[in-house]
Amino acid sequence: MAFETILVEIEEGIATITLNRRDVLNALNSQVFTELAEAAENLAVDDSVRAVIITGGDKVFAAGADIKQMALLGAVDVAIGLRPSKIAFERLENMPKPVIAAINGYALGGGCELTLAADVRVAADNAQFGLPEIKLGILPGGGGTQRLPRLIGAGKAKELIFTGDLINAEEALRVGLVNKVVPADQVLAEAKKMAKKFVSRGAVALSLAKACINEGQRMDLEMGLEYEHKCFSLLFATEDQKEGMKAFVEKRKPNFQGK
Ligand code: CAA
Repeated sequence: MAFETILVEIEEGIATITLNRRDVLNALNSQVFTELAEAAENLAVDDSVRAVIITGGDKVFAAGADIKQMALLGAVDVAIGLRPSKIAFERLENMPKPVIAAINGYALGGGCELTLAADVRVAADNAQFGLPEIKLGILPGGGGTQRLPRLIGAGKAKELIFTGDLINAEEALRVGLVNKVVPADQVLAEAKKMAKKFVSRGAVALSLAKACINEGQRMDLEMGLEYEHKCFSLLFATEDQKEGMKAFVEKRKPNFQGK
């Protein structure tokens, strides 16, 4: 996959997407969003890929949507031109494979919102998070008003969105915005370790578990439980379920085939 603003590398079943606009702190312009959307679509159907990591490299994750580009836009331009950001985030969120954000340095505005579209977040001890859009006279338009309160609760999300203040990695861990904090030089390695563990599990079970959690958030509890029961039942038609339980009985490690 050849892109200009992102790099995509696939190794041992793990795809790593690296944001590649370092001179502007990986500011997300419309080209980044379009390329991210295309990469996510391709990776979702690539059978050689079992997990995806998204990173901005070792200095910064992303300092948000490209303000210089946005400054020139009117309402109609945003409605049409920034549509790919919504598509990119939704494709990552709904991908039937685990997506891990590996975050060094700033994850602000659209950068923070991109991490929220991932399933789990591994942060460097030097990471800083925030939704500073309010200081620009706008609101977080990349899912921040929806995904952040669902993740950390409405009260803390409102505080961050209304003030635009940044929080450090320790605070992000405390409020549940990130799953893990590690030394800055170990973020990608830790994300890969986590990805490898996900990949070693039954891929069908994992993708249905992800669907249950994501879809369940759009349902009331009763419907969510019904949806979960259907997915649970379906797994008993897979080879992985037979293998997983046989391996337990035979006291050995399962060898899942993702079927
Ligand atoms: N858009 C465009 N360019 C950006 C940018 C952004 N979001 N963030 C940084 N840059 C550019 C700077 O303009 C600068 O470029 P030049 O060298 O050409 O001047 C370069 O990246 C380095 O940035 P700084 O000199 O500002 O670096 P710093 O270390 O002094 O400050 C920072 C770092 C605190 C992150 C600061 O750059 C900053 O505040 N950035 C903007 C953060 C922000 O407001 N993000 C939200 C954007 S809105 C959004 O994301 C909308 C949405 O909901 C989708």
